Amino acid sequence: MNVRDSEHIIAELEDKEDYRLTDDSSEADLILINTCSVREKPVSKLFSEIGVFNKHKKDGAKIGVCGCSASHLGKDIFKRAPEVNFVLGARNVSKITKAIKSDKFISVDIDYDESNYAFSEFRNNQYKAFVNISIGCDKKCTYCIVPHTRGDEISIPAELIINEARKAAKNGAKEIFLLGQNVNNYGRRFSDKAHQKMDFSDLLDMVSEIDEVRRIRFTSPHPLHMDDKFLEVFAKNPKVCKSMHMPLQSGSTRLLEKMKRGYSKEWFLNRALKLRSMVPDASISTDIIVGFPGESDEDFEDTLDVMKKVKFEQIFSFKYSPRPLTKAAEFTNQVDPQVASQRLQRLQDLQEKILDEISLTKKDKEYKVYFEEKRNNGLLAGKSDNNALVQVEGKDEWLGMIKTVRITNPKRLSMYGEVI
Ligand code: 5AD
Ligand code: SF4
Repeated sequence: MNVRDSEHIIAELEDKEDYRLTDDSSEADLILINTCSVREKPVSKLFSEIGVFNKHKKDGAKIGVCGCSASHLGKDIFKRAPEVNFVLGARNVSKITKAIKSDKFISVDIDYDESNYAFSEFRNNQYKAFVNISIGCDKKCTYCIVPHTRGDEISIPAELIINEARKAAKNGAKEIFLLGQNVNNYGRRFSDKAHQKMDFSDLLDMVSEIDEVRRIRFTSPHPLHMDDKFLEVFAKNPKVCKSMHMPLQSGSTRLLEKMKRGYSKEWFLNRALKLRSMVPDASISTDIIVGFPGESDEDFEDTLDVMKKVKFEQIFSFKYSPRPLTKAAEFTNQVDPQVASQRLQRLQDLQEKILDEISLTKKDKEYKVYFEEKRNNGLLAGKSDNNALVQVEGKDEWLGMIKTVRITNPKRLSMYGEVI
């Protein structure tokens, strides 16, 4: 989401204001920091970064703080860092051209701003294109600050999404990456009340009808909304890449209730195992929080149990971080940080073992790989349909092509192979 917001900001500045990107901040007339606020760490990093930029910037250069931390800290940013010239929340990206023109400009509201949809073109990556399909989130999980920074969930009309995907694909992006906080809840609410309700499975089929689109990815789906229709379209549509992110958060039904996730351990296992049986080669990734308030040893064992049963190909694991404006920050049964660290370590050790087991099964398998990058090690790298990083010796002209690769040396984080 933040990467795409940054692309939008750059597009507006290049198109309407004649700015150009530079890698050297001491050369820049404008320094933008696009921030996350999902955990505490990036927020503290923000203020040290402002200090560093302020020291090295050229005279008269402006500093702007954008994104989720801008949304929730608002004008406090000016108090803590008077050198900041403007503050632009995650839902106010389209106001960048205004922000640069007035000092101490601030816009952090989270209302329905349709100007969010229509943007000039700029993309970091010529091979794949991020396309927003919805903004905001209605879920209000008790640990999460996102609904407070990105506002209510609102779907972007399908026609606009298809136009954007078509334009990107015509410009060479064979892969379209659909983005939203809860993608598979798509189509429930549009800003235009007359817009016909539809669901995410239909949108996937519509995007796949664009000839130039060869691959479709999306993130993040919510386990609660993984109905059979969605799993079937995922399994059957050949353009939909066979990798699914299923954010578990916790394996304990008791804790899932406290988190307000809306599903149980059994529902999650049912969906994940159904997916495995429908698409045996699919990869499943997840997010897990350890040390949520009140997490007992037993709750944590439930999380490990789900990991052993699903055998996720990738896990993003985090220690719970209390966030302002959230319900869980007020819970009185916070977990001892040392206990949380030990649990995180145990979880990560288990995952390493699972990954070793998984990678042994990959040798000699064949994958379709979309080459996107030449690495410093001289190898061409790309993602398989099921989202594994694959590296081969190859020719530069293969960049932007999809080729079949046989795996010769599977490792935990990357597989090595040869094009056949
Ligand atoms: N503490 C730790 N992790 C969090 N996440 C969201 N809020 C918090 C928090 N307060 C994690 C969730 C989410 C991912 C993007 O960040 O796992 O899926
Ligand atoms: Fe946060 Fe929950 Fe919404 Fe995801 S679904 S953005 S975790 S509130």
